[in-house]
Amino acid sequence: MQIDLSGKTALVTGSTQGIGYAIAKGLAASGARVGLNGRTAERVEDAAAQLRAEVSGADVVVVDADVSTAEGAARAVELLPDADILVNNLGIFGSADPLAISDDEWRRYFEVNVLAAVRLTRLYLPGMTDRGWGRVQYIASDSAIVTPTEMIHYGVSKTALLGVSRGFAKAAAGTGVTVNSVIAGPTHTGGVEDFVYELVDKSLEWDAAQREFMRVHRPQSLLQRLIEPEEIANMVVYLASKFASATTGGALRVDGGYVDSILP
Ligand SMILES: NC(=O)c1ccc[n+]([C@@H]2O[C@H](COP(=O)([O-])OP(=O)(O)OC[C@H]3O[C@@H](n4cnc5c(N)ncnc54)[C@H](OP(=O)(O)O)[C@@H]3O)[C@@H](O)[C@H]2O)c1
Repeated sequence: MQIDLSGKTALVTGSTQGIGYAIAKGLAASGARVGLNGRTAERVEDAAAQLRAEVSGADVVVVDADVSTAEGAARAVELLPDADILVNNLGIFGSADPLAISDDEWRRYFEVNVLAAVRLTRLYLPGMTDRGWGRVQYIASDSAIVTPTEMIHYGVSKTALLGVSRGFAKAAAGTGVTVNSVIAGPTHTGGVEDFVYELVDKSLEWDAAQREFMRVHRPQSLLQRLIEPEEIANMVVYLASKFASATTGGALRVDGGYVDSILP
């Protein structure tokens, strides 16, 4: 299966590092023109330079915009008007005592993890359906299905995203646009390193720290290691391709078997 996305334009939200960057790199390596996104021009330009160095001939557009706001989403559309592939990857996470999460914090998780993706879908989906081809994806999490006690606000926001994905897939029925979510499991990113060190002994070396984290906090993982960002990106690139044309309205797992269920 040779994936060729040449002629397609993609926007990957929150892609200056981590899973988003790996997705942007995977799409660029398959020939797509890719909009890299983060909140500041400096960070996005640095990531763009890195991507151009890593993928020869990469066509990268700098989309410096805080897409968690309506103004930021409008700026993203101004900088990258017609995306054929929208990957709603942006998401924040962090541990918190369930009884101490304030209303404002609940709202912040909803705004960044859910509403930003809804808004961008509203802005980009009509162009895709007019052109008769498109791909919308949402990066969800095992936490969407197994709500973690140490971050229920995060888990709930990702559960909502699964509903958002299914709903927009129905809205796009029969148009040539597919809409899916990807359930990512515990992944080795910079953000997660910080999160792991919130929960395990800070004096541990990284390898020992991740093993301890998986053993104590994620014992259900069948992979028994963190997932690499490229492993999530592989699924996203496949879903973006013509080969995934019959997959829509789905939630596809790249979770290392973490969710103890046969479906989805
Ligand atoms: N890591 C995991 O283990 C894991 C597991 C399951 C699911 N996920 C999901 O995967 C996605 C990516 O996670 P990650 O760990 O790769 O994230 P990360 O390393 O924390 O990176 C977050 C990215 O989002 C950007 N960003 C933050 N706020 C933004 C905003 N308001 N507007 C635009 N960009 C913004 C950051 O760029 P700047 O700082 O440059 O703005 C950065 O590029 C999230 O949805 C997360 O929930 C992660």
